[in-house]
Amino acid sequence: MSDNTTPADLEEAVRLLQAGELVAFPTETVYGLGADAANPDAVAKIFAAKGRPADHPLIVHLPGAGHLDQWARDIPQAAWDLAEAFWPGPLTLILKRTSLVPDAVTGGQDTVGLRVPSHPLALTLLRAYAQAGGGANGLCGIAAPSANRFGRISPTDAAHVREELGDAVALVLDGGPCDVGIESTIIDLSRDGQAPRLLRPGHITPEQIAEVIGEFPELPETMQGAPTPRVSGSLDAHYAPRTPMQMVAAGDVAQAIETYQEAGKRCGVLLHTVVSPLPAVLSLCLLPDAPEGYARALYAALRELDRGGNDIIFVESIPQEPAWAAVADRLRRAVCGSGKR
Ligand code: TXA
Ligand code: MG
Repeated sequence: MSDNTTPADLEEAVRLLQAGELVAFPTETVYGLGADAANPDAVAKIFAAKGRPADHPLIVHLPGAGHLDQWARDIPQAAWDLAEAFWPGPLTLILKRTSLVPDAVTGGQDTVGLRVPSHPLALTLLRAYAQAGGGANGLCGIAAPSANRFGRISPTDAAHVREELGDAVALVLDGGPCDVGIESTIIDLSRDGQAPRLLRPGHITPEQIAEVIGEFPELPETMQGAPTPRVSGSLDAHYAPRTPMQMVAAGDVAQAIETYQEAGKRCGVLLHTVVSPLPAVLSLCLLPDAPEGYARALYAALRELDRGGNDIIFVESIPQEPAWAAVADRLRRAVCGSGKR
């Protein structure tokens, strides 16, 4: 358990969840805004707190794969194999839902997203919740989207959650900064007779998935080698700072800053290599030059640059390599949704 969370906090969290209230908690990816997934009134509070449209489905967090068949039916062998290989961990499985799953969780769809997180505090919470009898109908699932306002940057620290949601959440469990830093990989296994499909890239890669299930998942269009999305509006404007963001090649960063500064604009810069010489800028973040370290620090850096009173955030382009695909996905969405104050 984290130093900042006491056993009394955990007890309180379980009590609040069972009472249909919201509890934010850390996972290894990002912080989640949790509610009893079997209680539609509790789930409604998530949508209200986030300002999220009601047809966006939520991921249900489970204490272990042993709970899968309460929530999913017709579970293919690939799902069991992936659960065995990657749970607890940052992988969400989309499966056909059972009749016990409320419409409020799935946005009315016939499928449900499920995962077992590996953050020790998340697991302790889920197990304590199960031990206390779980929620409505004795089901033990915590529905939790990322604990940010809809369309904004996901929180990777307890302080980010308080900043985003303030009093809208009854309790925030503090488990320190998140280790992975970007949201879980999502794989859809619900389509009869069709190949598994990757819906969201993440820390667990398509190659790792293929190794377990013996088949390479279908990739989203943006990962099929197209350098830019064909229709930018087709991307969810997600993970976005209020400040406009622009990707710039390393060799062009200095010039881009100069041009903006000459026009009296303030620039924030997000780098992963040492670009020099660089004009003095108001705020600069240098992230690790490797995808895992970059992902871990990305959202906190975007938050900081967004707070810095900048007119624009320049982001140094990242390598177009499979290892960077999940980071590329988040940056693409952030650029697409940025600048909407
Ligand atoms: O890492 C994560 O997955 C974090 C932590 C808190 O677990 N959660 C997260 O939740 O990112 P959220 O709500 O911000 O994103 C959930 C994504 C959405 O893009 C949603 O469309 C998709 O999961 N999703 C959930 N259920 C689905 C379903 N039945 N079919 C297709 N997509 C689904
Ligand atoms: Mg989210």
